[in-house]
Amino acid sequence: MKQTGGGDDAKRRAGESAADIPGDGDVVGLGTGSTAAHAIRELGERVDAGLDVRGIPTSFQSRELAREAGIPLTSLDEAVPDVAIDGADEVAADGALIKGGGAAHAREKLVDSAAERFVVVADPTKESDRLSQPVPVEVLPDARAPVADAVRSAGGDPTLRAAERKDGPVVTDNGNLVLDCKFGTIDDPHGLARTLSATPGVVEHGLFVDLVDELHVGTDDGVDVTR
Ligand code: 5RP
Repeated sequence: MKQTGGGDDAKRRAGESAADIPGDGDVVGLGTGSTAAHAIRELGERVDAGLDVRGIPTSFQSRELAREAGIPLTSLDEAVPDVAIDGADEVAADGALIKGGGAAHAREKLVDSAAERFVVVADPTKESDRLSQPVPVEVLPDARAPVADAVRSAGGDPTLRAAERKDGPVVTDNGNLVLDCKFGTIDDPHGLARTLSATPGVVEHGLFVDLVDELHVGTDDGVDVTR
């Protein structure tokens, strides 16, 4: 069942709560989206106050925001994240996620799964019993048609994500396209994740299963933390 109580205040509470986690010397995976942005800004405030951390951005957007916030940056070539803080488009009761609303899920999965501790920040509207939002699938530009066929064979209905402000498709930070794939309620996220991962031309999909260590959900007056 979908929850009410979303909004930017709930996102801010969740982001600020997670931004309290990193300690001196930590490397922090910096997620993408409006909720993760609150965490990045709060972490920037803590850096201003003397906290010694380095960030690994998951997108162009989070890199720019981290720079503005004064967070020193590094990369997966140099360091392993102690903690990653990232948002989600849907959070199931078993902790499985759908991500990729910002088309950043390939690098998000890379950084979030590399982290010792993956913390998801969300507002209550993101919570549901079982995943049912469309699954974003990043594909190589040449793979759009064969991957769409494979998605249909797996019971899905793919739509090429269109850019909002100009004609043409969304192009990811990696130069690829995104198919938003409706599967209805997803009974077997593990199986679907395996099928999508095994499809040639798929760069990454937005199903994040068995990855979350901690969930911070901002509410009207606080933050619910579950582990
Ligand atoms: C980007 C993502 C975001 O984390 C997800 O879309 C949530 O965004 P927001 O916090 O703005 O609701 O997966 O690819």
